[in-house]
Amino acid sequence: MDSDPEGITHNKLNIQAAMTSLQSNAPALHNASIVYREDINEELFIIRVAPLEGLVPDFIPGQFAEIGLVPEEAWTLDENLQKKSLIRRAYSIASAPSIRSYLELYIVKVDGGQLTERLHKLQVGDSLFLAETAKGKFTLDEAPQDTNLLLIGTGTGLAPFMSMLREFHAQGRWKSITLMHGVRLAQDLGYREEIEKFVSSSNNVFYIPSTTRENIKSCPPYQGRIPDIIKAGVFEQTTGMSLDPKTCHVFICGNPQMIDSVQTLLEEKGFSLHKKKEPGNIHAERYW
Ligand SMILES: Cc1cc2nc3c(=O)[nH]c(=O)nc-3n(C[C@H](O)[C@H](O)[C@H](O)COP(=O)(O)OP(=O)(O)OC[C@H]3O[C@@H](n4cnc5c(N)ncnc54)[C@H](O)[C@@H]3O)c2cc1C
Ligand SMILES: NC(=O)c1ccc[n+]([C@@H]2O[C@H](COP(=O)([O-])OP(=O)(O)OC[C@H]3O[C@@H](n4cnc5c(N)ncnc54)[C@H](OP(=O)(O)O)[C@@H]3O)[C@@H](O)[C@H]2O)c1
Repeated sequence: MDSDPEGITHNKLNIQAAMTSLQSNAPALHNASIVYREDINEELFIIRVAPLEGLVPDFIPGQFAEIGLVPEEAWTLDENLQKKSLIRRAYSIASAPSIRSYLELYIVKVDGGQLTERLHKLQVGDSLFLAETAKGKFTLDEAPQDTNLLLIGTGTGLAPFMSMLREFHAQGRWKSITLMHGVRLAQDLGYREEIEKFVSSSNNVFYIPSTTRENIKSCPPYQGRIPDIIKAGVFEQTTGMSLDPKTCHVFICGNPQMIDSVQTLLEEKGFSLHKKKEPGNIHAERYW
């Protein structure tokens, strides 16, 4: 049973558009197409990727999909060589799992990046590779229901939290959900309006956006890197709760140096990294 019949119709129309597009010589490995694109700014963009046949893989909020491209210069090579030249990377899924016709991805163009420089040039109707299964252990399954969730992301590290919020913000499954998002400039605060709607429609969802390279001394968004925001007590001021390992689980995603700094800070407060054999309350997803 599909919970997104409109999406399916939409998908069928887009598949037709993709089939009649100029990419008739696209590699057979390209089994999906872009059905939506939105530019947040010159580097940050949202794409929705739909399989040319069937529905997207099942996934749990927090998991990632792998997408890829055979570089255009390799399109005339035989299938084996095309397979070898496929540039394939992981992207956290930003859409909710109830949307079965496309996966939404939130991507930053990395200067000189092999895949993102190419992805950034794609438009609706263009084809790409989408792996058959979603993967990853960065999910809320390990967080007990009577806990408070603190979700921390830098840059596109927001993506898995969008899937979580879209799926769970209204369910009251956890005591509270606080999203801390650290970016360079206010213009990098993607999904801000949607997140603010989650906050205003619920009494246990909180949003702490912070910028590090903004000249305007306005507040909010808060100014400073995430570890400094935590040290300044912004979590406590915003939620009225304490950042306590007995009552909170923290999920951290994005820049690996930020993850290390936040982990150290939390360990000083008594938090510990979650491991399969040693359950803890810090969960991390490193993007590089
Ligand atoms: C589990 C997982 C989920 C991911 N989800 C996302 C996502 O939702 N959105 C997203 O944009 N990226 C995400 N990434 C990163 C993504 O897989 C690629 O590494 C990234 O898009 C760069 O690919 P590239 O080929 O353009 O760069 P490459 O030529 O492979 O260069 C890699 C270098 O780019 C830098 N880099 C990589 N990712 C980022 C980033 N997000 N922000 C800043 N610098 C970066 C690092 O310095 C890295 O060493 C995720 C990575 C992992 C492991
Ligand atoms: N977003 C943009 O405006 C922009 C512009 C040009 C190019 N790009 C490209 O996009 C890539 C990703 O940029 P991004 O801004 O999305 O991601 P990013 O470089 O990881 O920065 C995101 C946020 O994380 C902070 N941060 C960085 N290192 C940290 C650490 N050790 N501890 C705590 N916080 C830390 C940054 O603060 P600081 O500001 O203090 O570093 C920033 O607020 C770049 O590598 C570049 O190729 C982005």
